[in-house]
This record gives sequence, C-alpha cells and structure tokens, in this order.
Amino acid sequence: MSNQTIEQSETNRFLAADSATARLYAQASELIPGGTSRLHYHFQPYPIYARSGQGCRLTDVEGDERIDCLNNMTALVHGHADPQVNAAVIEQLQRGASFSEPSEPEVELARLMVERVPSVERIHFRSSGTEAVMMAVKLARAHTGRSAIAKFEGAYHGYYDYVQVSFSSTPANWGDARTPRSVPSSGGLSPSVEEEVLVLPFNDPQGVERLLEQHGARIAALLVEPLSNRSGMARPAPGFYDFLREVTRRHGIVLVFDEVIAFRVGASGAQGRYGGAPDLTAFGKIIGGGLPIGAVGGRADIMALLDPTRGAAKVISGGTYSGNPLSAAAGAATLRKLTAAEFARLDALGRRMRDGINAVFRAAGERAQATGDGSLFQIVPTDRPVENYRSVPRDAAANDWLDRLHRGLLEAGVIVSHRGLSCVSTAMDEAVVDECLQAFERATAALRSAR
Ligand SMILES: Cc1ncc(COP(=O)(O)O)c(C=O)c1O
Repeated sequence: MSNQTIEQSETNRFLAADSATARLYAQASELIPGGTSRLHYHFQPYPIYARSGQGCRLTDVEGDERIDCLNNMTALVHGHADPQVNAAVIEQLQRGASFSEPSEPEVELARLMVERVPSVERIHFRSSGTEAVMMAVKLARAHTGRSAIAKFEGAYHGYYDYVQVSFSSTPANWGDARTPRSVPSSGGLSPSVEEEVLVLPFNDPQGVERLLEQHGARIAALLVEPLSNRSGMARPAPGFYDFLREVTRRHGIVLVFDEVIAFRVGASGAQGRYGGAPDLTAFGKIIGGGLPIGAVGGRADIMALLDPTRGAAKVISGGTYSGNPLSAAAGAATLRKLTAAEFARLDALGRRMRDGINAVFRAAGERAQATGDGSLFQIVPTDRPVENYRSVPRDAAANDWLDRLHRGLLEAGVIVSHRGLSCVSTAMDEAVVDECLQAFERATAALRSAR
C-alpha cells in the first residue's frame, strides 16, 4: 500500500507503530500463538481490535469507526447490540446464565426452527457450527452403519477432523477436476481421514454420479455447503441440489446441508431457495444471535438416534453448554425479528451492494466481481464465471489483490473479510450501502494509484 493511500485515508490509526492495536497485538503474540485464536480473521500486519459495535458500525480500540460488512463472520444478522436481542439476553442473564436443567428458551428456539424449515422435524442444539457438523456426521454413521463421508471440494465445514479436507487444496495437489484428491487442510489429522473422505466436484452431476457409483456403498453422509465462500459463493446449477437428493437416496446416503452461513438467505435457508430437501441440516451463527451456538436438525427417524427415552440413545451427546439459555434467548429474539419483510429488505440491500460493487469494479477496470445471494456477498478476484472452488484464483497475485483491497477498505471505513466474505445486516439501509460503495470506489482508486 502506498504512502499516498495511507495519507488520504481516514481510519488507519491502527497501523501506527505506537497504536493501541500494535501494543495489544505485541502483547497477544507473547500469549497466544500468532496473537489470535481465530486464524480465519488473521491478516497482515495484524488484525484491528474491536472495542464496541452499534448497529452496522464497529469501533476499534483507536476510536475509529467503520461499517461492519463482516458481522462476526456473518453471525450477526441484525448488526451489533441490537436492542431486542440485547433485551432478551439481559432478561435471561438476570435469571441465570446457564443451568444443568433444560430451560424455556431452548424450547422456544426449537419451535421457531421447526416452524421455519420444513425438512427439520426435530432439532438438537450444540455450541458451535463445528459441533453441529460433527453430530450430523455421527448421526449419519449410526443411521447407515457406514463410516466414510463425501464432501465437495472447497467446502468449509468447521474444524472437525473428518471435514478438514480439501478446502485449501491448490493446483499442485488437487488432482483431476472430476475426481478431486482428498487433501488434508490441517496438520494433526489422522491418516484415515484421507481414506474416509471422498471429495466431489461441485456443479458436476456426471462427476458426482460416477464417484458415487464407485464409492456410494461405503458413504454415510454427503455434506453440502450451499454458497461456499471458498468457492466464490458459486450458485448451484439449476436442479443440482435436487439431483443430489435423488442420487443420495438411490445410494442410501444421508444428505446433509451445512447452513451455518447460508441459513441467512431466507426464512427456510438455502434449501428453501435452491431445493434439495436434505435429511439433516447443520446450523450455527445467526441462530445464536451473536452468542455461541450450533444445531443439527432433520428427519425425525434419524434424530431419534439421540433420544434417551427409547432405551439407550444410539448416539451419545454431551456438552455443558448445549442448548444454553443465553444463546437460545438471543437466537429466538433474532429469528422473531427476521420477518418476511426483513428478508425482502436484506435481499434488496444485498443486491444493491453486489450490483454496486460490480459497477465500481467495471468502471475501475478491476477484473473482479461480487457474488453471493440474499444478504451474503463475496469479493472474488476474477471476472470469469464462478462455478466451483477451482473457478476462484488463489495464486499470489490474486491474494495480493485481495489483501490490498481489504486494507484499502479498512482505511476507507469498511470491514470485509480479507478473503472477501461479507454480508449486509438489517441494521443497514440504502444510504449505508451507498457509503460502502463509495469506500469501494476509494479503495479501487488506491489500488490503481499504487500500480
Ligand atoms: C459453512 C460452515 N460450516 C461450519 C462452520 C463452523 O462453525 P463454527 O465456527 O461455529 O464452529 C463454519 C464457520 O465459519 C461455516 O462457515
């Protein structure tokens, strides 16, 4: 980033060597490996530190305010410190933060979820999206008596061993496009993970069909991440999810949607938008209203494997904080506020943002685009069609472009993820979106002047 850009910008105090941010990061680096517990948020030279958030704006420890288009990695659909969500949490907090006993908010959140999502006949709460996915896999294994799972190349499903596969593979190791290799995306995985995880090509029905013909009989679950951000939020080709429904049924495989992020696209999530009618769905993020949560929901007969009243439950679950009343109260308040009218408004704001960013990129001659759907948007460093993980450039030049755009946006007063994941919230309006678009104009101008 050139000095000229830094001088022109408004919110760059975090970069100063004597800033509160630099001091915090130096201190954190002595205590926490890499200075942060969240690798996905880490960027150079160090992250900004949040002091407070109000609505769509976040203030960092320097006192600089930015429009937050990341919202705790999409978890906050109403933005920060929403009055109704806060009131529900405070009311519950005054009654007690957590109990051994089940409590009313858990039942209320379960009711709201079952009412909203037709494929969810029963639901079971966990404390994170990772745990929700883990439980979905376990249920599928217990239901089918099989152990292997299938997932799409590029899909991120949290940090459970059996899903930390092929979400960061590269041309050097990803193999043939129709038969992607199973590549560990983390150290510390058991070698069995590679054999137990079949990686499928997204948006390629023939490729999926062929691999399931070969391996289907040993696959317990097929996991789908609708609008996978590592795959540039590629939309499913028309009918692709209904095809997955049919082919998994034919092979006796449990179809699992991971809607930890995508649930924000509509009242019944991505499955309501694109079809697929999964057997099980993993949820997280927005259904906890900003507090830790995960949930797996779906077919009553599969979910019954968790039912201790039917003799020994076949799948044993624990979790000191599973179904905790604070997260459930925040989640229920969040969902109650997410009316059809609010979804329509989010759709319109998301469209305005994506269209506006695309217009800015076109005018600036940047070969990039904003993809996504509903309230979600993703900045992808290519102007070519985005169909799957391999459509998204991730070479040094592409990453450098994203890094510089991200920095330019931070300095122009807008937060997105440094890999492009972003969203709008109900705390925004058209004027806020237009403010963001002006920041995109400034950030792309800075890119040009640095060339
Ligand atoms: C699609 C998807 N699944 C699962 C997870 C894991 O959720 P958590 O971070 O709550 O464990 C994430 C997290 O970003 C996600 O995006």
